Amino acid sequence: MKFSPFYALLTGSVVLAQFDYQELRTDYCVTSEPTTPLPYGAPWGLKTANDTNPCNVIRQYEWTVARGFKAPDGYQKEGLFINGQLPGPLIEANWGDTIQVTIHNNISDPEDGTAFHWHGITQTGSPWMDGIPGVQQCPIPSGKSFTYTFTADLYGTSWYHSHYSAQYADGLFGPLIIHGPKTIEYDIDKGPIILSDYFHATSLTLEELALGTDESTVVPFSNNNLINGRNSFNCSRTAANDTTPCESNVGVSKFRFTPGKRHRLRLINAGGDGQQKFSIDGHNMTIIAIDFVPIKPYDAQGTLSFSPLSFVSHISGIVTVGIGQRVDVIVKGLNTTGAFTMRSVLAFCSDDYQPLATAIVYYSHKTLVSNSTAWPALNDSLANCGNDDISLSVPWYPITPTEPTVTQEMEIGLTQNETGHYLWTINNSSFRANYNYPVLLLSNKGNNSYPDSPEWNVYNFGNNASIRIVLVNPGFAVHPMHMHGHNFFILAAGPGEWDGSTIVNPLNPIRRDTLLIPAYSYTVIQFEADNPGAWPFHCHIAAHVAGGLYVTILERPDEIAKIKIPDIMAQTCEDYVEWQQRMVVDEIDSGV
Ligand code: C2O
Repeated sequence: MKFSPFYALLTGSVVLAQFDYQELRTDYCVTSEPTTPLPYGAPWGLKTANDTNPCNVIRQYEWTVARGFKAPDGYQKEGLFINGQLPGPLIEANWGDTIQVTIHNNISDPEDGTAFHWHGITQTGSPWMDGIPGVQQCPIPSGKSFTYTFTADLYGTSWYHSHYSAQYADGLFGPLIIHGPKTIEYDIDKGPIILSDYFHATSLTLEELALGTDESTVVPFSNNNLINGRNSFNCSRTAANDTTPCESNVGVSKFRFTPGKRHRLRLINAGGDGQQKFSIDGHNMTIIAIDFVPIKPYDAQGTLSFSPLSFVSHISGIVTVGIGQRVDVIVKGLNTTGAFTMRSVLAFCSDDYQPLATAIVYYSHKTLVSNSTAWPALNDSLANCGNDDISLSVPWYPITPTEPTVTQEMEIGLTQNETGHYLWTINNSSFRANYNYPVLLLSNKGNNSYPDSPEWNVYNFGNNASIRIVLVNPGFAVHPMHMHGHNFFILAAGPGEWDGSTIVNPLNPIRRDTLLIPAYSYTVIQFEADNPGAWPFHCHIAAHVAGGLYVTILERPDEIAKIKIPDIMAQTCEDYVEWQQRMVVDEIDSGV
């Protein structure tokens, strides 16, 4: 089926806390923009993306990555930044555009590698551009540059981040917005709203704790929680001997709303550890998309139904955003000139000292101070560490899964190695990347067996057409599991073990790219093997993936062998080997 994507021109005043859309929007290519939203059941995403943008626009970005100091919440921290910004710059494109990002690695004192991942982009036809060191590429060493080029193959809200070690927790992340057909009418796009827990320690310190021998530090505690990179902090909470420069009450993000208008908010959890419960005092929200998948709109409003096993969450005014997940919501402006508190709170299963991030929603410049009260259900929602009820999310474009040709069980575990260091495992194997031998590049040369490298955790699914994975989490921790290259179907989830047959919404199950797996539970997912490549499937908690909670799905190696991979990939490996000759790379973690 052919379908011409159109390019939504977003109207109304755009007052963003931090990201400014207007500049790019002026050169949007609008050819035959339908005036009404897509009807339910209209084509979606990959099914039509090949139709591409009639204007064929290339969105170019040039970034320099370097160390620096910043104090987003008043407490000064050494971090890594893109062009000196936190969060990093906004990438904005139309569906079908080409996105081209050149990274200059200027990391020094000490030098380090880096590699960038475009979360949620399927990289169909360009699997080498997915950005995982040791899986699809060698790291970009200090002093070198690399240009990522890929198609905006889905539309909606996402983010990008460094996938090298836990670098993103030091500041290497930002929003990625792709405009596409509207499924529901709205008036004002408020742009990305990035929710991110925040650690005052560097990622290296956190990893040393998380992968250490002391079980009590396996999960490091975050110090604050930010909305679009801002929140206040009370400096009196720092340790008495901490001489780090710190300023209390530096302020929060502010969002202007217009009475009676429908505002689109693009929520993104770009955190390292915590699951977010998002709400705006006094305002209801309508959910229109989860990850890159538009859904039939439903209201985040209803009766409080809480279960201790965390499988029912449909709580008045509260939306769950796990790490790596995105939720697009529409919020109707009230008839008021008042101000209200936007809250994002880390759920109880997260480990934190300061779970509450706030921002201000205001209607008039005269009232910028809020003393609104939180939704009564907010507190109870924090005990729930699962997703919002999966049966409520019905994809706009229906797809019915076929029978799987293979079923693979994957069980999550926590173990100690011979030296007593804690490691996370899937099927008893903890992942460790070899930066010098990316799996995809090996596979492309016909090497698909890794007998000497069990810690590579490669699952070769051969030519299977439809792959089902039964995930089992018998442990105490929640895991936001993310898969690259696909939006997977979520067929079932619940406490204990799957009965082997129950499927929720079997004709059109929810699809997304990141899913929360609560403690003591199972989840069954499935995807069509329509995207040859080497695709990571991992927990998105920085300390867990650093500790090895990761596998690579090798999809259709026969097809991978036929791909012509650009020379720049081999060149980057040569650059990396050369750099290693003068640098000692101390890989204390899994590397991703
Ligand atoms: Cu957000 Cu493996 O990525």
